[in-house]
Amino acid sequence: MMVPSRVAMANSVQTEFVVLRGPKTLARCAADWLLARVLAVAERPAVCLSGGATPLMLYQLLAEAPWRDRFPWSRVHWFWGDERFVPPDDPRSNYRMVRAALFDRVGVPAENIHPMPTDRALPQVAADYERVLMQFYGAERLLLDRPLFAATLLGLGTDGHTASLFPGSGALEEEERWVAAVPDARPEPRITLTLPALASSGEIAFLVSGAKKRDILSQIRRHDDLPATRIDSAGRVHWFVDRAAAGKESH
Ligand code: 6PG
Repeated sequence: MMVPSRVAMANSVQTEFVVLRGPKTLARCAADWLLARVLAVAERPAVCLSGGATPLMLYQLLAEAPWRDRFPWSRVHWFWGDERFVPPDDPRSNYRMVRAALFDRVGVPAENIHPMPTDRALPQVAADYERVLMQFYGAERLLLDRPLFAATLLGLGTDGHTASLFPGSGALEEEERWVAAVPDARPEPRITLTLPALASSGEIAFLVSGAKKRDILSQIRRHDDLPATRIDSAGRVHWFVDRAAAGKESH
């Protein structure tokens, strides 16, 4: 397997940029990273899951050897970084995507899975999910030296959005609440964690794949002001990207 090239991105947060040959090696790299993260955190490591198409292969891999046999399923708790405001069995649901790819294939205690509820009014969803997070965390204020999440997975939209923090959105400016409603998101309203909540992660991994992400990724590497470049972290930020997205011709 190709040794990933690691190029540190000089900025305030410890960031590394790893180029993988293709989507499969990217998913394997992310699976190894996620396993190491949850094993490094005792008690109840919390994972914040990304939606979208890119992480699907990762979620499917976690249900296969060797990851399925090594993952401490009984003590990992699963949360979402954002959700589309659709029923949980809707094809657009991020919860449905992860359940089908992973949770239906490995034994995860139901009480460890914390989807964003979409069976009530949008503002109520944000308030209720913030309460779920605070109850899990055991406090109403996030502490720098005690991250909420052991590991956070994020994707990158071609406009530089991540989770459902879109350029120019009010949710992107939220500095106090942990969860925000995004009523004007299209094609459907969304719910998203805010920058403070996402920053409360021991480590963050962006997964970026495909030639259509090439332009936005070069803007990221220039540190243009985009939602994804505003993501801070209590620890390290990894960018796991494939050659197609990084603009390196694949052999
Ligand atoms: C979502 C994601 C969103 C996604 C990016 C990239 O709910 O869709 O949270 O932020 O990560 O839009 O999506 P792709 O992986 O499908 O390119």
